[in-house]
Amino acid sequence: MASRLEAEHLYKVFGRRPDEAVERLRQGADREELRADGTTAAVIDASFTVEPGQIFVVMGLSGSGKSTLLRMLNGLLEPTAGHVRFDGQDLTAIGDRELREVRANKISMVFQHFALFPHRSVLENAAYGLAVQGVPRAEREKRAGEALALCGLAGWEKSWPDELSGGMQQRVGLARALATDADLLLMDESFSALDPLIRRDMQDQLLQLQQTLKKTIVFITHDLNEAMRLGDRIAVMRDGRIVQTGSAEDILLRPANDYVASFIQDVDRSRVLTAAAVMDEHIAGDEVSCGCETATTVTPFTELCAISARLTHPVAVLDAAGKLVGRVPRQRLVGLLGDQQGEPAPCDNPRDSRDGKVIANA
Ligand SMILES: Nc1ncnc2c1ncn2[C@@H]1O[C@H](COP(=O)(O)OP(=O)(O)O)[C@@H](O)[C@H]1O
Ligand SMILES: [Mg+2]
Repeated sequence: MASRLEAEHLYKVFGRRPDEAVERLRQGADREELRADGTTAAVIDASFTVEPGQIFVVMGLSGSGKSTLLRMLNGLLEPTAGHVRFDGQDLTAIGDRELREVRANKISMVFQHFALFPHRSVLENAAYGLAVQGVPRAEREKRAGEALALCGLAGWEKSWPDELSGGMQQRVGLARALATDADLLLMDESFSALDPLIRRDMQDQLLQLQQTLKKTIVFITHDLNEAMRLGDRIAVMRDGRIVQTGSAEDILLRPANDYVASFIQDVDRSRVLTAAAVMDEHIAGDEVSCGCETATTVTPFTELCAISARLTHPVAVLDAAGKLVGRVPRQRLVGLLGDQQGEPAPCDNPRDSRDGKVIANA
C-alpha cells in the first residue's frame, strides 16, 4: 500500500531570494550562514513517509522548524522546494481551490492553544469544522455529539467553554478535529499547555482513540517523553533538519549522533523498552529447561529487571508461541539504566556526566 503522507526533500526559507538560499543549503550551507544575510532556513531537506494508521511524531526544541514543517503538510505554507504527497496527490502541484477542499475535508489540525468560541456551546464548538464543510445542522450536531462522547465529554454538549477545565477544552478541540472524519490529523503541541497529569491523560485518550479510529496522525512536540509514548515513528529535528527518524527504541538504543544522545539522557528508558528491544537473539540450539521464570518479547523493562533480580542467569525471552527467541543478561539491564549507549563502558574509562561529576561504571 502507498504511504498516506510523504514529504520529499522539503525546504522552507523565509526572507530574500529563497531559491538561492535553497541552492546554498543543498551545497551544504547551514542555518547560521544564511542567517547572516537575514534569511531563515526554517526547514531544510526534510523527507519522511507516514503510513496509514500511524502516529508520526516530530520532536525538536523550540525554533527547530516543527510548526513550519507541519504547515507545509496541509498546504498552509507553500514549500520553497520539495513535494508533499497525500494519498498520492501532490499538494504542492494542485490549485488553491482544490487545496482548500483537501484541507477542509481530509485534514484536521489541532493547535496548542485551542481557541474555542466563548459564546457557542461545547456542541457547536465541536461541530465547527463540519459547519465550515457545509454539513447540515442535524447531521453535524449528531457527529459532533459522537466525537465529544469519544473524547469523554458526553453530557457537556450544552455547556459553555468557560465551564470546562483546560484539559476538557483541549478535548473539545480534539473532538472538533475528529468530528470532521478527516483521515489525517495534524497536532501541533496540542497537549503542551496542559498540566502534566492532564497531559498524560490526554496522551492515553489519544492512544485509546487511535486503537479504534486508526487515523493517520502527525504529532508535534518538544517533549521527548511524550514523543516516545505516542510515536510509532519519531523524527528528531535540529536547526531545521531531521537528524534521525526511527522508532522510540531505535532512538533510545541507537542515537544517530551526539545531539540525539544528549537529548535522550533524561528519558525514562524503563517506560519505553521491552524485552524484544534489549535481548540477545537466540541462536538455535539450547532450550529453556530449568523451568524458572521467563519473559516474553513484550515484557516491559521494569518487569524484566524484577525477573532478572530473582535469577542467577540471563532471562530467557519467549515469543507468543512459547518458543525461545532470546536472552537478556543482567548487566545489559543495569547498563541501559546507567549508560546512554546501552553498553557498559570499560572500567578504566569513567565518563563525565552532564553536570561535571565523574560517575562510576555499572
Ligand atoms: N513566517 C515566518 N517568517 C520568518 N521566520 C519564520 C516564520 N515562521 C517561522 N520562522 C522562523 O523559522 C524557524 C522555525 O520556526 P518554527 O517552525 O515555528 O519552529 P518550532 O515550531 O519548532 O518552534 C524559527 O527560527 C522561526 O523564527
Ligand atoms: Mg511550533
